[in-house]
Amino acid sequence: MCGIVGYVGDQQCAPILLDGLKRLEYRGYDSAGTAIYDGAGIDVRRAVGKLRNLEKAIDEAKPQGSVGIGHTRWATHGRPSEVNAHPHLIGDVAVVHNGIIENHLALRARLVERGATITSDTDTEIVAHLIDQRVREGADIEAAVRGALGEVRGAYALAVLSAKEPDRLVVAKSASPLVLGLGEGEAFCGSDIPALLPYTRDMIFLEDGEMAVLERGKATITTLAGAAVERAPQRIDWSPVMAEKAGFKHFMLKEIHEQPRAMEDTLRGRLDRENGDIHGLEIGLSDEDARGIERVYLLACGTSYHAAMTGRYLIERLAKVPATVEIASEFRGRDPIIGPGDLVVAVSQSGETLDTLIAAKEAKSRGAKVLAIVNVIGSAIPRAADAAFYTHAGPEIGVASTKCFTTQLANLLMFSVWLGRRRGALDADQTRALVEDMARLPHLMRDVLLGTRQLVANLAKRYNEARDVLFLGRGMSFPIALEGALKLKEISYVHAEGYAAGEMKHGPIALIDSSVPVLVLCPKDPWYERTLSNLQEAKAREAMVIAIATEGDEEVRDVAHDLVEIPEVRTELTPFLTVLPLQLYSYYVADFKGTDVDQPRNLAKTVTVE
Ligand code: AGP
Repeated sequence: MCGIVGYVGDQQCAPILLDGLKRLEYRGYDSAGTAIYDGAGIDVRRAVGKLRNLEKAIDEAKPQGSVGIGHTRWATHGRPSEVNAHPHLIGDVAVVHNGIIENHLALRARLVERGATITSDTDTEIVAHLIDQRVREGADIEAAVRGALGEVRGAYALAVLSAKEPDRLVVAKSASPLVLGLGEGEAFCGSDIPALLPYTRDMIFLEDGEMAVLERGKATITTLAGAAVERAPQRIDWSPVMAEKAGFKHFMLKEIHEQPRAMEDTLRGRLDRENGDIHGLEIGLSDEDARGIERVYLLACGTSYHAAMTGRYLIERLAKVPATVEIASEFRGRDPIIGPGDLVVAVSQSGETLDTLIAAKEAKSRGAKVLAIVNVIGSAIPRAADAAFYTHAGPEIGVASTKCFTTQLANLLMFSVWLGRRRGALDADQTRALVEDMARLPHLMRDVLLGTRQLVANLAKRYNEARDVLFLGRGMSFPIALEGALKLKEISYVHAEGYAAGEMKHGPIALIDSSVPVLVLCPKDPWYERTLSNLQEAKAREAMVIAIATEGDEEVRDVAHDLVEIPEVRTELTPFLTVLPLQLYSYYVADFKGTDVDQPRNLAKTVTVE
């Protein structure tokens, strides 16, 4: 995990590095550090804990200089401590790194044999030694980095500063994200786009196996083997304000409320209301391809997996294509039977989740076509896929994913309708009706957020002492129940389980007593009657039942202790609305508990380890 940032220009770089690290803190927050060339040598500052500790250290030391690198860490090798924090300074060379060097133990042994003193437990320090060795033998910094990387195996995004050549940074990438930014007389690097957005919108995405020398206003890219690479910067249209809190207490709350806007942006240009169809999907499939698909395979992790599970229902219901969904990390190890004729849809907010990336590559190597549904443009998964169908949620900073979940649902729904129409599973009238209903989504979501916010906050306050919480749903509400439980677990640290409502009687019902709130998703849909029976079963065991149900449902009102209403919509749209009160519920429980909502313990926004 970890976040890296670098600057070369004429401005004082400490504030720029700190600002970039603040935007990257979601990637890791157990320690942080900077290395700045101050005219005489490299000044390194490191601090354990949140970034404010580093900020304090820098405030006291006031390092001066206009070329530097910074890092925020999420420990993989070695516990969080100052000695394990980056940058690692060996001789004249400072290194920051995101990723894992797989052969670091063998390299460490070799270095020790040759007399090197290694002070930290990290794999990164090994790389710094390998580079420093070459610099001491007379290599320039670019050649030294190239040579060192020839010895390492694994995943890395690296930024390297040498006191011998203080007008440049050398960066390199393999399997971990790295973006370069170009400004007037300055150049930047960072682990993602928001880190650089306040300074430039002209960005270059480095590919795996490439390195670059950053100088003032210039990035010279080569392959690791030394071949020149020409790549023009892309203009990124995210505004810096999109990455700020905009007056909300937490990014998560802001992002929950941004969902109507994110939905509008994601649907824009894709709903063809004039012809009652879906168009302009960047899915790299012709109508003929659509008819040839034998099976759809959805792969994802975490919240994106819950979106993929919902996608399976949508694809089977609307396009009548068999669909399978699988946790990406489980896919690789079981020698999956997959090949030409199968379409793999890899769903990921970050586009960098290593498990999903590996699974997508594995599917592709077996001949399947891979479509990426991703939020971060130019990230690794879309680059590895045959086509990228982006959600337009904007940057998501809160570790708990919210707006990216609902926009993933939107892309999966648009894809299912498009596919269903092309395969003859939907006729023109059905398609037109779906398109019209989808166009109402932003407005409906806004109503649900504003209409349920206070009620859900009150419920969260009332039940926030509960030690266990159950979420139940059937059919398309089952993945939403799982998502509700995941949200609550990750930000409030309350034990929560999501179950298929019909499965409750096969075991989980034993957990129920009067201390357990049970949130039941029971909108008017094909599973309604049976879910209602399960709700009654929970109530009969004295659970505190909170129902998320359709407006005007008197039957549910009579049985449930508490009722959160959503407008009546067609079955395919219910997940977009039922998930909103669950996101709010977990947010308010966590806020009442006073947990670190945006950066919950042990988690990182982007999981680039297996
Ligand atoms: C979401 O709230 C989680 N933080 C996590 O489960 C996340 O969805 C998962 O790590 C997958 O990330 P991705 O969408 O970036 O691939």
